[in-house]
Amino acid sequence: MKFADRLQNFGEEIFASLNVKKLELEKQGRKIYNLSIGTPDFPVPEHIRKALTESAQDPESWKYSLRDLPELLDAVCAYYKKRFQVDLHPEQIMSCYGTQEGTGHLALALLNPGDLILLPDPCYPVFQAGAFLAQASPWYYPMVKENGFLPRVSDIPEEIAKKAKLMIVSLPANPVGAVAREDTYQEIVAWAKKYDVFIVHDNAYSDIIFDGNEGKSFLAVPGAMEIGAEFFSLSKSFNVTGARISFLIGRKDVVDAVRLLRSQIDFGMFIPIQKAAIAALTGPTENVKKQCMEYQERRDALCGGARAIGWEIPDAKGSMFVWAPIPASYSSSMKFCLDLLEKAGVLCTPGSSFGPHGEGYVRFALVLPPDKIREALNAVKQSGILE
Ligand SMILES: Cc1ncc(COP(=O)(O)O)c(C=O)c1O
Repeated sequence: MKFADRLQNFGEEIFASLNVKKLELEKQGRKIYNLSIGTPDFPVPEHIRKALTESAQDPESWKYSLRDLPELLDAVCAYYKKRFQVDLHPEQIMSCYGTQEGTGHLALALLNPGDLILLPDPCYPVFQAGAFLAQASPWYYPMVKENGFLPRVSDIPEEIAKKAKLMIVSLPANPVGAVAREDTYQEIVAWAKKYDVFIVHDNAYSDIIFDGNEGKSFLAVPGAMEIGAEFFSLSKSFNVTGARISFLIGRKDVVDAVRLLRSQIDFGMFIPIQKAAIAALTGPTENVKKQCMEYQERRDALCGGARAIGWEIPDAKGSMFVWAPIPASYSSSMKFCLDLLEKAGVLCTPGSSFGPHGEGYVRFALVLPPDKIREALNAVKQSGILE
């Protein structure tokens, strides 16, 4: 059977070859430090687990939910007010099965084939997948060292800005670990208004931000609500990646459009998961802050530890990732990843898998405690790969 042409946009070859190598080494009894995938290793707070299991005991919870519970939408409104000082109306919010799913369907709801969408390069690959699913035309704006790894809208050519329909922005950024400056969002809002571009901000890492900075909502910037929407995932703040809980929040007509599309293919989020989300949003948040400090300790162990052995990795400013330049003796991030795995038993992700501007870097996920990170760096040092 000849499958749909769109499948040709998707492939996992890079990860497959790294995985084969990893399994091979594990079979030989080698110790592997897996810093490749951004799945939090911290526990899910008890009150969230309890809310889900209690709800699951009620047979009524097992029916089609059909919609977001009003108390869930109220909980998002209250959270946004308290955490980000943003006023929302429940109609400006819809749940989705994670930002990953939401991003794909948002593209299908907003873009026609050939429409221009601006994406970061390097970026979280799902942004690109949404564009491909909608047969839109992506144009990549660089997230590079010279720009402090931040979007610089003033560099976008006028003819591209005039044609663009949508732009995806995501800070703190995966994979580059950059966070918004005071004026980053203001510049983007002014630019979006001038060129009539809709901004979708992915706020996956608002709670993982270091050195005393406070994560913000894009929607808190004056004017943002007129030109934008934001994905707000609970995955990383509350370690609920498997439960698939995120929200699309923002301009009502856009949220309505995505809701209409999704209602054709879904009957609403499982009620026990909605109850878990309510518990997360209305429950204690001290754990979120404590966890952020623990990520910072990991960041310090990795970036500071690497510098101590002669590998100049700058401090990540936020997100659960560290963006590390590969040694000058290498020209391919994939080759460096394979060698690092083989020689030191340390698994990371080649920067090239996040886009052409990712070449020359690798990404480490901060998913091991500081002592294990120190052990991994010791293995790097012993391997001689930096020499
Ligand atoms: C930038 C970014 N957005 C979204 C996600 C995933 O969010 P969710 O679990 O809600 O799909 C990730 C996960 O790695 C991410 O890095």
